[in-house]
Formats: sequence, C-alpha cells, structure tokens
Amino acid sequence: MQWQLTFLLIGLCEVLQAQELRVNDKVTGNLLQEALLPCSFVSADQNARVSQAIWFKDGANIAAYSPALGIKVKDSDRIQFVNPSDTSTPLRITKLLASDEGKYTCEVSIFPEGNFKGTTQLNVQAVPQNSANVVQVVAGDQEMTVATCTSANGRPPAQITWQTSVPGNVTTDMTNNTDGTYTLISNYRITPTWTADGEKITCTVTHDGKETAIPLKLSVQYTPVVTIEGYDDNWHLNRKGASLTCNAQGNPPPTIFKWTTANGSPLPPSVHVNGKILYVDQMDENVNTTFKCEVTNAIGSRASQQEVLVREHAMLTQTNNAGAIAGGVIGGVLVLLLLAAVIFIVIKRNGLHSAKGRGSYSPKTRVFGTGKPSQEFNYQEDSELDRPLKGTIPPRDSGLSPSLCEEDDEERMDYKVLEDEEEEEKFNEVGPMLQLRPHPQVGSYLDDDMESQTDGSIISRTAVYV
Ligand SMILES: *[C@@H]1O[C@H](CO)[C@@H](O)[C@H](O)[C@H]1NC(C)=O
Ligand SMILES: *[C@@H]1O[C@H](CO)[C@@H](O)[C@H](O)[C@H]1NC(C)=O
Ligand SMILES: *[C@@H]1O[C@H](CO)[C@@H](O)[C@H](O)[C@H]1NC(C)=O
Repeated sequence: MQWQLTFLLIGLCEVLQAQELRVNDKVTGNLLQEALLPCSFVSADQNARVSQAIWFKDGANIAAYSPALGIKVKDSDRIQFVNPSDTSTPLRITKLLASDEGKYTCEVSIFPEGNFKGTTQLNVQAVPQNSANVVQVVAGDQEMTVATCTSANGRPPAQITWQTSVPGNVTTDMTNNTDGTYTLISNYRITPTWTADGEKITCTVTHDGKETAIPLKLSVQYTPVVTIEGYDDNWHLNRKGASLTCNAQGNPPPTIFKWTTANGSPLPPSVHVNGKILYVDQMDENVNTTFKCEVTNAIGSRASQQEVLVREHAMLTQTNNAGAIAGGVIGGVLVLLLLAAVIFIVIKRNGLHSAKGRGSYSPKTRVFGTGKPSQEFNYQEDSELDRPLKGTIPPRDSGLSPSLCEEDDEERMDYKVLEDEEEEEKFNEVGPMLQLRPHPQVGSYLDDDMESQTDGSIISRTAVYV
C-alpha cells in the first residue's frame, strides 16, 4: 500500500511539473511601435491542446481564440493573435499608445488538463528629446535663469539634475502631454556675478536608467574688471623702461582703454600710450602723479588707479623670495668658504709669524659672522648704486636673511599657538585680526590669481587658529 501511494504521488508531481503556461512577467514597448505578449502551454502530454484562449486587459476581455469557433478581437486594427495554434496564443499590439499600458492576462482552457492563466505587465515608454542652453544675462543682484534644460516627450517622466560649482536654485516644471508623455523644463537660477562667467555647468537627464549629460558654460556679461600692473614702488628719477599695463577682463571683451591722470590734467609729456600700455619715456617729476585707466565694453566702463611715487634715488633692487633664498644659500656657502680660507691662512701664518697673530684678522671674522655680507652680495647687482645706498637701506628690503626672518615670525607664531597652551588665548584673539588684514578687496574685483592667493592664505591661517 505504502509503495503504491508513493509511486502515485511521484507520478502526480511529474505531471504537474511538466505542465505550465508560459508568459513574460514584463514587456516594454515603445510608443507608436509594437509589443508582443507570448502565451504558450508546455506539457509532456502530446495530446494536450488549447480548446479556448482569452486575453484580458486589466480584467476586461479584449481578444478570444477558439480552434473551433475562430477569433474575436476588440480593437482588431491594432491587436492581433500571432499564429495561434494548439499550444500557443501570443498577442501583438501595434501603434502602441500610453493607454495600452497595463496588466494583460492570458487565460487558456487545455483539454484535458483544465484552465491555466498567466499575467504580463506591459509598459509603454518613449525616449525623450533632451536639449539645454545657456541664457546670457548681465551681472546684477536679481536672481535669474542662466541655463535651461528640456527633456521633451518622455515616458515615464525623465529626471533632470544640474552639476556646477556655482551655487544656485533649480526650478523644474512638468507638462503632462495628451499622448501620455511628459515634458520637463528645468531652469538653473543664480544671482549673476562676473565670477560666474564662463563657469561650467552640466545638465544631466536620467531616463530609463540611462544618463545623458549636456555640458554648458555660463555667460554673464559684466562691466570690465580692471587692474594696473607694472609699478613696483621703486620708480626713481631717470629709471629706464618703466611702463604700466592696464589689464581688464570683461564679457563682451573690452574694446576701449583710456589712460588719464586721476586729477584730470592731461597726461605728462614724458609718457606715451599704446593701447593698454602706458610707457614712461622719461622718468621725471611729471610722472609723480596718479594714473587712471578706464576700460569700456558694451556693458559699461570701469576704471582703476595707480598712484606713482617717483623717488630721488632707487631703493635696493627687490628680489622675490625664491631669489632671496637662493642668494642667501649661495652667499652663505661663499661666506663659509671664505671663512675657512681665512682661518686656514691665519693658522698657517700664525704658525710662521706668531708675534703678529690674530688681532689683524679678527675684525673681518666678526663682520662675516653677523650675516651682513649677504647684503653686500645684493649690491653687486647694481655696482653704481653701491656706495650712496650703503647704510640707508631699511633692513627689511635687503631681500635676504631679514625678509626670511619676517616670514619666520609668522610661522613661529603659529607653532607657539600649538605648543604653548598658556598663550593660546592671546593668539586666538589675534587670529581674527590677522585673517581680516591681508586683502581687504576680497571677493569683488580681484583677478583669479589674487583670489586664489587670498583663499590660500586665509585657509592656512584659519587652519592654524581655529
Ligand atoms: C535660492 O532661493 C532662496 C529662496 O528663494 C534664496 O534665499 C537664495 O538666495 C537662492 N539662492 C541663490 C544662489 O540664488
Ligand atoms: C501629471 O502626471 C503626474 C505623473 O503621472 C501626476 O502625478 C500629475 O498629477 C499629473 N498632473 C496633471 C496636471 O495632470
Ligand atoms: C613726488 O612726490 C612726493 C610727495 O607726493 C615727494 O616726496 C617726492 O619728492 C616727489 N618726487 C619728485 C621726484 O619730485
């Protein structure tokens, strides 16, 4: 008895497993194109056959097939059975509409097995047309749209995002089109400043898991931003080859550069202008004035001024830090070599004439020891000036060890803050003042280089003091 029951159960299971109605869980078709919904009966039984098949959409009967009675379809222009047979009754829908989206159930009667059904989700999608453009604006204090991104006639609705370093607000509107598609229009809005001009911005449209990125560059028109370059605070009588350059950024590009003196008097006869450059032909007291450069583009004009001081005599030639360090190192090495040589000679001579001895050499040794020789190395650059300038040079401009010390002062202070807890409070009070000090113009009319320098120094200070 037990054996027989077991065999019966196994046999039953095999029959059940071998029989199934095969449909797709999900089918996606494109709008106005077609979709195929498979439905087939699989069985080990060679004699099994469909006696009737009915397709329902969201519960409503839309198509029926019977080998004996024929085919009946509700919307036969767009809906057909595809080669219906004893085991397969697939449905095809053409010229897909958004309203075709839904649950399709294939229900079949199989002789002699009975009734089976399977359901397919049909989604209708449409690939959107994406586009983006910048809106050219003029710098101002009103928030306005500077870029627009459109994703038209997509289904399901696309998503639009923006990527840029320029802070702003996004507004996105969606229109439900009558054909079941969606059109999105997204605006990127900022309060346009000249620094936003030329900045990169990307619109990314996401649809059906795919991303489309459209890169753009903002265009903000603005009155020229003007800086004057070329004055080094060391213009002196009879200096040759001096000039001032009027640098200007603008959108649209500046067209007119106009040099004047700030007090309205005509330019001195000892200078001449060529475009954006003012050349000093003869450095005399007439040049001892404030020059003004006014730059104009289609948006407007803006001026910058440079106060010029013509000195009686040159100051010590200024060297930059890298040069100063290099000079200091080379100078130091030379001094050491010289010192070694002197000592060597002294020792040798002392050996020979011990009576005269050290006295005559010690003054020199003292001079080298103070670090002053480094100044002398600098003077060699301009030997004419060597004598008159000696002694009048402020130590800070020597360009060598004194200026290095100045930098060291700040660093040393930083270390102090970190190391000396007692004094920490004192330095914290000083901290904010230092942060405000270096560049009062921060933000508004700096060129890019200055801006990054400013950022750099502020950040490093903050990092130490906060
Ligand atoms: C974004 O909108 C808010 C509220 O309207 C506004 O306060 C803010 O300034 C805007 N941001 C920018 C960058 O325009
Ligand atoms: C537009 O379609 C969306 C998504 O299908 C829906 O949430 C929204 O209510 C529709 N809006 C209108 C005005 O029909
Ligand atoms: C330039 O003007 C300053 C005062 O503004 C004066 O001290 C200096 O001597 C003048 N230079 C010449 C060369 O006249």
